[in-house]
Amino acid sequence: MPPALVDRHGRVATDLRVSLTDRCNLRCTYCMPPEGLDWLPGPELLTDDELVRLVRVAVGLGVTDVRFTGGEPLLRRGLVGLVERVAALEPRPRLSLTTNGIGLARLAAPLAAAGLDRVNVSLDTLDRLAFTRITRRDRLDDVLAGLAAAQEAGLAPVKVNAVLVRGVNDDEAPDLLRWALRHGYELRFIEQMPLDAQHGWRREEMVTADEVLTSLGRAFDLVAEGAAARGSAPAERWWAQERGGALRGPVGVIGSVTRPFCGTCDRVRLTADGQLRNCLFAREESDLRAGLRGGEDDAALAARFVASLAAKRAGHGIDDPGFLQPVRPMSAIGG
Ligand code: GTP
Ligand code: 5AD
Ligand code: SF4
Repeated sequence: MPPALVDRHGRVATDLRVSLTDRCNLRCTYCMPPEGLDWLPGPELLTDDELVRLVRVAVGLGVTDVRFTGGEPLLRRGLVGLVERVAALEPRPRLSLTTNGIGLARLAAPLAAAGLDRVNVSLDTLDRLAFTRITRRDRLDDVLAGLAAAQEAGLAPVKVNAVLVRGVNDDEAPDLLRWALRHGYELRFIEQMPLDAQHGWRREEMVTADEVLTSLGRAFDLVAEGAAARGSAPAERWWAQERGGALRGPVGVIGSVTRPFCGTCDRVRLTADGQLRNCLFAREESDLRAGLRGGEDDAALAARFVASLAAKRAGHGIDDPGFLQPVRPMSAIGG
């Protein structure tokens, strides 16, 4: 059978990212203002039943990987039960979660038992003051405890996502990598994208993939992994060997802006309020919640998935002269 979720550029969507809430317990400066955002009202959020039904439809259309995102997905009540229900779908999708790590110390083991396969944890710095400056909350220890618990629970490989912020933690790349290699976490550096709620993103302020590699190159020898092994992953990987030391292992760079990977994108996104987005930067959404609540059957919902994917644009267009940031910020899309 030919793939159902295919776009006119020949890309096939197999990876569904599901945002479970737009709320967050941190206030990262590159994401949202100190006061937070106008959170989605409860009745607009998909219920667990609605969510599981849409994931089931997506799995029927060839989705093999489901990732729960936020805001902060660990804030979603009943998360463990939701994981259990999605893990029970046939064929069973691979299940992962992207979290800021707060609360993971308590939830890692139950989530693993419920069927979660992996977690990615966001952590930009190991310095308590820098952590508090970036996230506006003094929670570094909670994140570190969450990471340890994830590893203990076998949610492997545990990946760590780091955004470097100029003048705050942009000198920390080698230290972060040493720390990650020591602990067996797979570290990836992410270029900041124009997805912040305050619309404060400036290209000149973004720490680029090249800068990260130059900085790492002062302390490590880096050998590129190559395109074949990368597949459709956003992260380019290098094998790092500490110069004059024993540490070695992989490190990734997600260069969404300066090294876009739109050409191999295999993603589609469902927001917490039931809107399907065919791209992080999509301008249009498909209102699956209206379909669901209007009584559509699975075939009609599937047709909405197919139509949305068919309309996917070639790339994010950040470099286009008329680029407009999406109305929905990162925390309400799910990263
Ligand atoms: P794995 O490597 O499979 O674990 O997942 P991942 O790296 O795709 O997931 P994660 O949620 O950790 O995403 C890391 C970062 O990649 C996000 O914060 C985004 O910055 C970036 N990213 C994820 N998906 C996309 C996408 O579709 N387009 C772009 N431009 N960036 C993306
Ligand atoms: N650009 C790139 N990454 C971002 N994240 C949050 N906001 C942005 C942005 N504007 C990252 C977080 C987390 C992941 C889900 O997205 O640090 O690791
Ligand atoms: Fe929360 Fe993630 Fe936004 Fe930070 S980047 S405020 S952890 S949603």
